[in-house]
Amino acid sequence: MCGIIGYIGSRKAANILWDGLKRLEYRGYDSAGICTINNNHILIEKDVGKLEEIQNKINFNSMNGNVGISHCRWATHGKVTKENAHPHCDNNNKISIVHNGIIENFQELKERLIKKGHKFKSMTDTEVVVHLIADNYNGSIEEATRKALKQIDGSYALGIVCANEPDKLIAARNESPLIVGLGEGENFIASDVPAILKHTNKVIYLDNNEMAVLTKDNVTIKNNNGEIIHKKIAEIDWDSELAEKAGYRHFMLKEIHEQPRAITETLNGRIENGNINLANELNLNEGELKRINRIIIVACGTSWHAALAGEFMLEELAKIPVEVEYASEFRYRNPIVNEDTLVIAISQSGETADTLAAIREAKKKNANVLSIVNAKGSSISREADSVLYTYAGPEIGVASTKAFTTQLIVLYLFTLYMSNIRNSLNKETIRDLIGKLRKLPLEMETLLTEDKGIKKIADIYKDKNNALFLGRGINFPIALEGALKLKEVSYIHAEGYPAAEMKHGPIALIDKNMPVVVLATKDVYTYKKVLGNIQEVKARGGIVIAIATEGDEEIRKIADYVFYIPRTLYILSSILSVVPLQLLAYYAATDRNLDPDKPRNLSKSVTVE
Ligand code: G6P
Repeated sequence: MCGIIGYIGSRKAANILWDGLKRLEYRGYDSAGICTINNNHILIEKDVGKLEEIQNKINFNSMNGNVGISHCRWATHGKVTKENAHPHCDNNNKISIVHNGIIENFQELKERLIKKGHKFKSMTDTEVVVHLIADNYNGSIEEATRKALKQIDGSYALGIVCANEPDKLIAARNESPLIVGLGEGENFIASDVPAILKHTNKVIYLDNNEMAVLTKDNVTIKNNNGEIIHKKIAEIDWDSELAEKAGYRHFMLKEIHEQPRAITETLNGRIENGNINLANELNLNEGELKRINRIIIVACGTSWHAALAGEFMLEELAKIPVEVEYASEFRYRNPIVNEDTLVIAISQSGETADTLAAIREAKKKNANVLSIVNAKGSSISREADSVLYTYAGPEIGVASTKAFTTQLIVLYLFTLYMSNIRNSLNKETIRDLIGKLRKLPLEMETLLTEDKGIKKIADIYKDKNNALFLGRGINFPIALEGALKLKEVSYIHAEGYPAAEMKHGPIALIDKNMPVVVLATKDVYTYKKVLGNIQEVKARGGIVIAIATEGDEEIRKIADYVFYIPRTLYILSSILSVVPLQLLAYYAATDRNLDPDKPRNLSKSVTVE
């Protein structure tokens, strides 16, 4: 949604804040701004555009002061204008705030405040908060904030500074992520870890209805009644280098190339003597896992595609009935769930509002909730009964890549673990499947290092407006993911379809301007049928790009372009097949001079409904 970073210490705040914003830009990039306090005066600079554009208009380096807050915005209430950009300020220029979330009763509060003489400069919901704090100010910013929060309904992560109290930085959270970073003689607040990782790896995750009062040497966490709470300090083991581009032109490309490493890390420690061991990570013993008679997987976006692939794995190998739900739909139905249902929530960020709400709904109905999450300590990982982490490291590119493949790996590990416990596969088969899994990172590495001409294939999208992606079985969610990647970063209209369903509609769209990616890796059930689908596309003049198994010469004769992936198990081949589709999307975007790291209108983490 939006990104927040705040600093208090002895260094120049504006420089640290600007640098931190660059690492949070994936959360919002339609406008940005910084507030510092210098000699008891509030200084605010803000503007619309991406950070690099704003940097050309504003010299943040000229802003003095050792305390400050900053924000990169993804508009919800109020258009993208300078006035609506954060930080916002009260009428006396004494208090300034940045906000991520939505204040639901802002209209009512605004009317009340206007009647009291407050003058509003923006159309945002956020501005009511700063006026409300000012309205309650009586010499203590902490007290005024606490009083204001009591009148607010909605979600917020807030950073607050006050010109009269320059030795304090206030933070508050409800339903929107916020962390406190602990440094030496300096402290930070941020929406997400990468923003402050360069300065400290010690963080406190704020929970709902908690406030933090930061000075340069101290951090106190309190509840909304002002009582002190003692919180755990977490040590983040992400390498700050990983959050940088490391020589790649874009984070998306870097993260695509990081996948073999990310998969290796996700496998690490989970395979023991030819068996999968997840016992330490799950809050369910073998008896409980045996009793589960149904699994529902909830997720959004790319994570939802991983869920569909997980459904295929769990039904095919562990023989458990699985349903996949959009988290946003699940929460507003009356899903039939009981104590023998396992609800799996998949989320890269661990903060997606709909997914979080879905797990709360599931818990209310006594289901056991397992989360598959990348961001350690995030809300979803904390609220679920168990968490299986993906070890993709920080994913900065808005279009998810390495998070997706590591989600597939965790789902596969969980499937094999369940297959063993429930005896749906014998030990020997499991050992064999694990053996093939271990080879996957190397196979992916080879795929990424050999030049297989994907950049050239991407050229065909240069002048195209539409694209189709077809796949069957576990390749259907991969087709959906390929289509999503392409539309997210290149703005080409793309659809993913089960290959056989093409005849029931999309075939009407096929002509010489329609590139069709067909996932045609070899399997025992559908390979021949997929070849038939390729013929159908060719007969209508479509351009076929086939993703095929190494050594398949037959497909060369009918497809216009073939991208080969190493021969492996059918299920695992889907994890390899998504890589060329990610690259295709990346190059299609860069060919069009688009920035794949910051696709328009999208945000990395959707923390509002
Ligand atoms: C946003 C992102 C997608 C992501 C989805 C779910 O839409 O742009 O890349 O797949 O949210 O996010 P989550 O963090 O829950 O996986």
